[in-house]
Amino acid sequence: RLILGRVLRFEASPFVQEPETSATLINGGGVLIEGGLISEVGDGAALRRKHPDADVDDTGGSLISAGFVDAHAHYPQTAMIASWGKRLIDWLESYTFPEEMRFDASEYARDIAERWLDLITANGTTSAATYCTSHPQSVDAVFEAARARGMRLFAGKTCMDRNAPKALCDTAQRAYDESRDLLLRWHGEGRLSYVITPRFSPTSTPEQLDALGTLWAEHPECLMQTHLSEQTDEIAWVRALFPNARDYLDTYESHGLLGGRGLYGHAIHLEPRERDRLHEFGAGLVHCPTSNTFIGSGLFDMGGLKSAGHHVGLATDTGGGSSFSMLRTMAATYEIGQLSGRALHPAELWWLATAGSAEVLHVGDKIGNIIPGMEADLIALDLASTPAISQRATRAVSFWEEVFPTIMMGDDRAIRQVWIGGEKV
Ligand code: GUN
Ligand code: ZN
Repeated sequence: RLILGRVLRFEASPFVQEPETSATLINGGGVLIEGGLISEVGDGAALRRKHPDADVDDTGGSLISAGFVDAHAHYPQTAMIASWGKRLIDWLESYTFPEEMRFDASEYARDIAERWLDLITANGTTSAATYCTSHPQSVDAVFEAARARGMRLFAGKTCMDRNAPKALCDTAQRAYDESRDLLLRWHGEGRLSYVITPRFSPTSTPEQLDALGTLWAEHPECLMQTHLSEQTDEIAWVRALFPNARDYLDTYESHGLLGGRGLYGHAIHLEPRERDRLHEFGAGLVHCPTSNTFIGSGLFDMGGLKSAGHHVGLATDTGGGSSFSMLRTMAATYEIGQLSGRALHPAELWWLATAGSAEVLHVGDKIGNIIPGMEADLIALDLASTPAISQRATRAVSFWEEVFPTIMMGDDRAIRQVWIGGEKV
């Protein structure tokens, strides 16, 4: 298959190299796909002559980008997104836990898994890392749905053994046993990866954190995902629950849950020691900007953390986040950057939503960019998808100026076409 359009490829991270020169735009470009992988990238007409038998998807003037990668989502919260008026802890108790209890029914889990995958795909997201609920069947549901679509998906059973409704609580032993069983069944099955998932320190006993730390040590090839320092009330609660811990991160660190393959969602109110340790381990920080404003959590220090060399990915965090769209997520990242004194360049925003998220998921060599050998998860975008965007974009005198109105105002209408593993969706 040969996809024709304006092809965007990153040559380097725009946080390391000048944003303006970090990416190449090939006008009239082409991406050749063979066996689900990108095999050649270059001039569209030349590729067409060289491969006259290829099926051609000519997108006209659409922008061809790597699909978006959402590094932290809660698919079970799809149906309760945009629930009003609460902050983290009462939001969890009022909206989240009651909804997650419904995933006891496999049929409901399958229904929401399909709905969530439909929604993110329509928004140009071709890969994601999601929390499930504490029910093993919620993990089976989303992996089965993703496998049928050929998606690269990361997911894990959300473990909790305290401070949550009884119906959602497992135990330290059950968390270990059920996570291990799911890991052995799903990890490495096609494009699927199992992620060890303690929800966050307040809902796990030290025994459960230990059990999951042990499982991670036994399977260091897996990622581990959790939440860290999202709201100040939450941090005070962690201090009360773990009086001997040096800080929030230490509640993970002292139980074997700090590592380079760890994904720490939010990471807003970090102490200097926490920053240092996360950096030393090369851990992944996951910025969830629409969630941070929606639940009123605080401002992520993108400028400071990227300057210090941290690995950062971008995520919707649905349903704490208020959108399924990585475009909307980039816009919120820009807005929070402005409030924190750092105007992020459009190239930086785009990189975070593609290659940056892929890097924290340790699949930066497989997805998140358009390079021969990488998997063909691609999207075609219309940079003039609405009258408001179009009238601004036509005035642009540079490529990134043309892209920025779509970042700030675009939604699923900007996503013209999606290819997953080289197959048109
Ligand atoms: N902290 C613990 N659980 C959650 C969750 O489901 N969403 C968010 N935003 N934060 C959390
Ligand atoms: Zn979350």
